[in-house]
Amino acid sequence: AEVVHIVGARPNFVKAAPVVAALESRGIRQAVVHTGQHYDDRMSAVFFRELGLPRPDVDLGVGSGSHAAQTAALLVGLEQEFTNRSPAFVIVYGDVNSTLAAALVAAKLHIPVAHVEAGLRSFDWSMPEEVNRRVTDQLSDLCFATSPEAVAHLANEGIAPESVHLVGNPMIDTLLANLDRFDVAALRGTRDLPDTYVAATLHRPANVDDPATVARLVARLHEVADSVDVVMPVHPRGRAAFEAAGLGDHPRVHLLEPLGYVEFVTLVRGSTAVVTDSGGVQEETTILGVPCLTLRPNTERPITITHGTNRLVVESELPGLVAKILAGDALGGTTLAEVPPLWDGRAGERIAAVLAGELG
Ligand code: UD1
Ligand code: UDP
Repeated sequence: AEVVHIVGARPNFVKAAPVVAALESRGIRQAVVHTGQHYDDRMSAVFFRELGLPRPDVDLGVGSGSHAAQTAALLVGLEQEFTNRSPAFVIVYGDVNSTLAAALVAAKLHIPVAHVEAGLRSFDWSMPEEVNRRVTDQLSDLCFATSPEAVAHLANEGIAPESVHLVGNPMIDTLLANLDRFDVAALRGTRDLPDTYVAATLHRPANVDDPATVARLVARLHEVADSVDVVMPVHPRGRAAFEAAGLGDHPRVHLLEPLGYVEFVTLVRGSTAVVTDSGGVQEETTILGVPCLTLRPNTERPITITHGTNRLVVESELPGLVAKILAGDALGGTTLAEVPPLWDGRAGERIAAVLAGELG
């Protein structure tokens, strides 16, 4: 019997890599199914090349679409795939549409589901990810949590405690496993980076879908760029809107294609501060000790605020906060000694140990 990993979007690849590696060292048979939710080389293949992930056994090629169209294509493709493979376990990651679709299909086929990164809650039902997370957890036979808060949320929602395992954070496994590769000096050798810069990455619908919101963000980012360079690898979701709003017209705003994992985390490591709405980046900056300004009203990762460098902000605060950070105020930074419990690089091993026990 084999376990099947379902991955589809950029953050899935980063989280799956250590779990696949840990199962591999236990000799457990496995397959990687790529749904094709993300498909550009820079949103997908680059992560397989860099992270030692095996090439996907299959790519369902579902591509982009409305939530209904994309989810429908995922359901049909995954049902066929699971029927053909009869996996012993389906492993899903995070909170993207591929995650929800795989959990739903597996549950209906009576295939056990393991959810990696279970129990995160923003309590904001306007986010597609909150819908995906909540439903996925209800459908999962094993819930792997990254933080004590997540364990508590699952208990509050009636998930059986014996199915919940606090294992640490596989995204941080990948970060720690690759620390030596995040060489800022080497990145400066290949990319024309300013000495001091703020790194930015934005892709949440609430920030990038509405042109009026984008215009407000661009005005504030330009204000930031009046005093420090801003380097922004642009997620395809917001590319057209940011271009239409003239983000790149400021001489100190540097727009890039989405970066591969090693270049991106190196960019973050070398930055004075990060402006983001990414989930994973809130966690990575916590470990790297880089101040993180999160343009959101809430976060499903509050441990990055209590134990890390994260702070929730509205765009009007950006110029002032960046000025403070430039003046040496770290906004309550973290040190590696006080990071969240079990964010130690061994989450993949713990997940593999639990799965090995289930598989008998
Ligand atoms: C998805 C996830 C989000 C996650 C993000 C990570 C859902 C509902 N959202 O958002 O939780 O944080 O991935 O990056 O699953 N596009 C391309 N090339 C690609 C992929 C996408 O051009 O390779 C463009 C298409 O115009 C597409 C748009 O980006 O319509 C959005 O892609 P989609 O996968 O639907 O959602 P994301 O915004 O990427
Ligand atoms: N990332 C990357 N290149 C980029 C932007 C992000 O490799 O240009 C990495 C980032 O370091 C993290 C992951 O992609 O490991 C997060 O993905 P994303 O922000 O797209 O999704 P989210 O975490 O918000 O779901």
